[in-house]
Amino acid sequence: MPAIVLVGAQWGDEGKGKATDLLGSRVDYVVKFNGGNNAGHTVVIDGEKYALHLLPSGILTPGVTPIIANGVVVDIEVLFEELDALISRGVDVSRLKVSANAHIITQYHRTVDKVTERFLGKRQIGTTGRGIGPTYADKINRVGIRVQDLFDENILRQKVEGALAQKNHLLVKVYNRRAISVDEIVTDLLSYAERLRPMVADTALLLHEALTAGKTVLFEGGQATMLDVDHGTYPFVTSSNATSGGAVTGSGIGPNRIDRVLAVVKAYTTRVGAGPFPTELFDESGEFLRAKGFEFGTTTGRPRRCGWYDAPVARYTARINGVTDFVLTKLDVLTGLAAIPVCVAYSVDGVRHDEVPVSQSDFHHAKPIYEDFPGWTEDITGVRTFEEPAAERPGLRARAREDERRPHLRDRRRPRPRSDRLPARPDQLARGPGRRV
Ligand code: IMO
Ligand code: MG
Repeated sequence: MPAIVLVGAQWGDEGKGKATDLLGSRVDYVVKFNGGNNAGHTVVIDGEKYALHLLPSGILTPGVTPIIANGVVVDIEVLFEELDALISRGVDVSRLKVSANAHIITQYHRTVDKVTERFLGKRQIGTTGRGIGPTYADKINRVGIRVQDLFDENILRQKVEGALAQKNHLLVKVYNRRAISVDEIVTDLLSYAERLRPMVADTALLLHEALTAGKTVLFEGGQATMLDVDHGTYPFVTSSNATSGGAVTGSGIGPNRIDRVLAVVKAYTTRVGAGPFPTELFDESGEFLRAKGFEFGTTTGRPRRCGWYDAPVARYTARINGVTDFVLTKLDVLTGLAAIPVCVAYSVDGVRHDEVPVSQSDFHHAKPIYEDFPGWTEDITGVRTFEEPAAERPGLRARAREDERRPHLRDRRRPRPRSDRLPARPDQLARGPGRRV
C-alpha cells in the first residue's frame, strides 16, 4: 500500500529529512502538507549540504515528484529562492507542483508576525518570524490570499483590499507602524504569477490519481506533534496540524488511503522557542547534547533547548498519530555517556503521570521521573543492524528492545500479519493515571 505519512514525534528537528532520504528511491511523490518556510531540513547528499525550508526534502531525490499541497502556506519569494539555489547546483526541480488552494504568505503577514511577537513581551511564542501564524489566521478568518488568486488580477486586488482594510488599522493604530499599500502587495504578487503558473495544479486530484495507480506517496510533515495547533503545547505551537490527520486535510486525500504512519524521534529531546519542556537540561549535560548534536536552528540559527529522551511524549505521539513505525535518530550523540537517563513518567505535585497531562499547568509543573540505561563508548556510527557487536552493548540492547515492539522501518518490504499492522493501542501502553510516586 502506497501512502506513507511521516511526522515529527517531539518538538521538531528530529531528522525528518534524513528519514525521507532513507525512503528515497522507493517513493514516487513527496508531499508537504502543513507549515511553510518555518521548517528546516538539513540533508547531506554525497557530501553536499542542503538546507531547505519550504520545499519538501524529497525534492533532492531524482525521479520524485514534489508537491506543495493545500495545507501549506507559501512565501513565493522564498519558493523561488530555494528553487534557484537547487537549480544552480544541478538539481532537477521541474516536477514540482503547487496546490491552487495553498495560501500565500505576504509581506503584511511577516510584518504582523514580528510586531505581535514584540507586543506579547514575556508571553512571546518565539515564532520563526516568517508570517506563518498570521497567514493561517487569515485563512481561518476567510481573508486569505490563495495561489489561484494570482491569476485573476481583479479578484486579487479585492482580496488584498479586504485583508488590508483591517490590518492597516491594526498596524497604524495599535502597533504604530506605517500602513501597507494595496498596490505594493498586488504588484509584488503579480510579478510571480507567470513563473508560478506552470507549477500550479489540482494537487488533490493528482494525488488521488497517483494513489489509484499504485504509486508510493510520502506525506512529509513539517514541525512536529508537540507543535501541532490542536494537540501540541498550545499556545506554544505552530499554527497548523503537524500530526498525521493534517496529511489528510492538508492534501485532500481520504483518511482510509493512509497505510503507514512513521514518526521520527530523536534519542534525546530538543525544542526551539518558548513553552513547556519537562526534560530540559540547564547544566553541562544540556551543553553536551547541544554541542555534540549540533543543536542550532536551521531556520533561525537559535541554539536549541536540549533535554533527555521523554517516553511519555513518544507514547502520546504514538496515540495521536496512529504511529505504525518509529525511526530513531541521533543515537550516536549519546556515545560516551556512562548512563543515559530516560524519562519514563512525570511527577506532578507528587502524583505520577504516565501520560502527557491534559492540563497545561500540570505539564508546566511536570517533573521527569528518570530510569537510567547503561551507556556505551564504542563508535556506533557504522552500525546498521541490531545484530552487530556494538549493538550488543546493554544500553543499545535496551533501546533496541523498545524499538522491536513496533515494526521497524527496515522491515518495510516484509509482508506482515494483519494484527501487526495496527497502530500501537494507547491502552496497552498506559499504566493508568494518577499513581503516587
Ligand atoms: P522543523 O520542520 C522546530 C517553532 C518555533 C516556535 C513555534 C511557532 O524543522 O522540525 P511559527 O513560526 O511556526 O509560528 O513558530 O514553533 N517551530 C519549530 N521548531 N522545528 C521546526 O520545524 C519548527 N517550526 C516552527 O520555534 O516556537
Ligand atoms: Mg528543523
